[in-house]
Amino acid sequence: MTFDPVRIGFLGTGFIATYHSKSLKRGGANIVRAGAYDPDTNRAQSFCEASGHVQCASEDEVIATADAVYVCTWTSEHRRLVEKVIAAGKAVFCEKPLSPTLAEAKLLVENVNASGAINQTGLVLRHAPSYLWARELISDPKAGRVMNVVFRDDQFIPIQSYYASDWRKDVDRAGAGTLLEHSIHDVDMLHFLIGDITNTSMRSHNFHGHLGIEDSVSATVQFANGAVGTLSSIWHDNLTRPSQRSVEVFCENRTITMRGHEWFGPVEWHDSDGTSGSLANDELLARTEPLAFGATNADVAFVHAVATHTQAFPDVNVALRAHMVVDAMYQSAAQNGTNVGVNG
Ligand SMILES: NC(=O)c1ccc[n+]([C@@H]2O[C@H](COP(=O)([O-])OP(=O)(O)OC[C@H]3O[C@@H](n4cnc5c(N)ncnc54)[C@H](O)[C@@H]3O)[C@@H](O)[C@H]2O)c1
Repeated sequence: MTFDPVRIGFLGTGFIATYHSKSLKRGGANIVRAGAYDPDTNRAQSFCEASGHVQCASEDEVIATADAVYVCTWTSEHRRLVEKVIAAGKAVFCEKPLSPTLAEAKLLVENVNASGAINQTGLVLRHAPSYLWARELISDPKAGRVMNVVFRDDQFIPIQSYYASDWRKDVDRAGAGTLLEHSIHDVDMLHFLIGDITNTSMRSHNFHGHLGIEDSVSATVQFANGAVGTLSSIWHDNLTRPSQRSVEVFCENRTITMRGHEWFGPVEWHDSDGTSGSLANDELLARTEPLAFGATNADVAFVHAVATHTQAFPDVNVALRAHMVVDAMYQSAAQNGTNVGVNG
């Protein structure tokens, strides 16, 4: 079935806007490159020259040109812009985190749900082949019950090098540090792989000294299905080390290890009967494409949802669940690691 091309606009033309723009191209999405706006006009100009989008003079101008708008600004602008987009009756892709605080994220979600707008969030690991395959391995009855997960995520603090901006050290624009800004992905993956988190306890520290921007975090989590786990998230200064995650999941009869590329694996597994396996790259992609919601390319999936007037995924409700867990973790850290329930 063929569909009319979807007119795509961008609010914010920095690092992640460039990622989505390239991803749309790589995935061969059927789009028209509509307006793009950034108050940093040099950035907007470079983005438009590279991508073919039309540089606009205002947020409203972008929204008027588009069927669907990517909100790729720093976090504190997300809610205001999402509300502008949905008020105009357009579809919206909102980057993660939804907002700097849980209270604001809830307002955003209420308004998006009330509008009925097609919406997707930047929790792109929901489309990643390695996580899709790990989830299959965990839910396989042969694995037995899932018992424990060890999740570690580290990167250099993203206010330097190819992150050509420093808003992540400003609590008013970022909301918080490595847990909210970066590891909300990891909290979402814990939910995706293992299940609902009911309780948590967290310790954190702020080595860089940027007010409200924690850069070292360790949390323990209790899942509703009985499993337990740990999440460590670090913003260091080792520029020689690429941003990376290491995930080990222990089931009764299977161990799953992910230490390679977060999209293309390898995902390795070892079973109690002595069998083992590993999947990566094209083979991993081929096995997981049918498992992805729409497509393993999250941007292609979004465009398809808009073109077909169907709901996209992961939507703001999925993101809100991660915000609730993150908020409970921060509450715990503020009380020196006391146990906090996720729903209050
Ligand atoms: N999904 C992911 O994996 C992922 C990765 C990186 C960043 N992000 C998220 O994407 C968002 C942007 O991050 P980034 O790394 O692209 O930052 P960035 O600094 O590279 O780009 C943000 C841009 O937003 C612009 N901006 C600010 N207010 C605006 C407004 N009202 N209208 C239009 N543009 C405006 C800024 O001038 C800046 O150019 C953040 O919320 C971040 O958490 C998500």
